[in-house]
Amino acid sequence: MRKKDTMSFFPQPPSSTAGQVTASLRQDHDIIKKVLKATDACIKLLKEGKEIPPAILLDTVDFITNFIDRCHHAKEEQGLFPALEATGMPRENSVIGTMLREYEEARKIAEHIKNAVESHIQDKSEESRSKIIQYCEAYVNHIDRHILKEDTRLFIITERRLKGKENDVKKMVDSVEIEKVGGAEGRKQYEENADRFLSSVRQLGSSNN
Ligand SMILES: [Fe+2]
Repeated sequence: MRKKDTMSFFPQPPSSTAGQVTASLRQDHDIIKKVLKATDACIKLLKEGKEIPPAILLDTVDFITNFIDRCHHAKEEQGLFPALEATGMPRENSVIGTMLREYEEARKIAEHIKNAVESHIQDKSEESRSKIIQYCEAYVNHIDRHILKEDTRLFIITERRLKGKENDVKKMVDSVEIEKVGGAEGRKQYEENADRFLSSVRQLGSSNN
């Protein structure tokens, strides 16, 4: 299970001085954190032997695949990183290279989650249930640590390096968001889904007690 007290060991990111680009990416992180919280609650229920409705499991897979990877990681990979590289920041041996390797790792774990969920919806077996638990735990841990690194390191570097260029980079990041989820409206939809996901799982936990 991820360590919830790790935040206290890191400096808090600036909020009022955050650039436009990092503000958008930090908002995505807030949405993602809600889904990690809901996934954590799902893991707890599954460990207690409870069943999670297929619709909730499929929504989790959809969020991980389409919002976290296809949209948010692409905003960083295709919008932010080229702008940082243009300031002279190398791709290898830098935080960019580390983040790219972590995206790859996240994609691999997400694929395992998708397969385990599909199997479990079909067979309801203990094996597929424990695979969902195993890979969801790995995913929550991985993304939790990844987001922390971005909030406390990558975005601080970004705010320094892209000073005065925020408008142009924000346009690039926004264009990736439009292409992947249809822009602000699409993102709002995912935010509402995250809220619904969290409250559904909490309700499930209290009704199962
Ligand atoms: Fe991120």
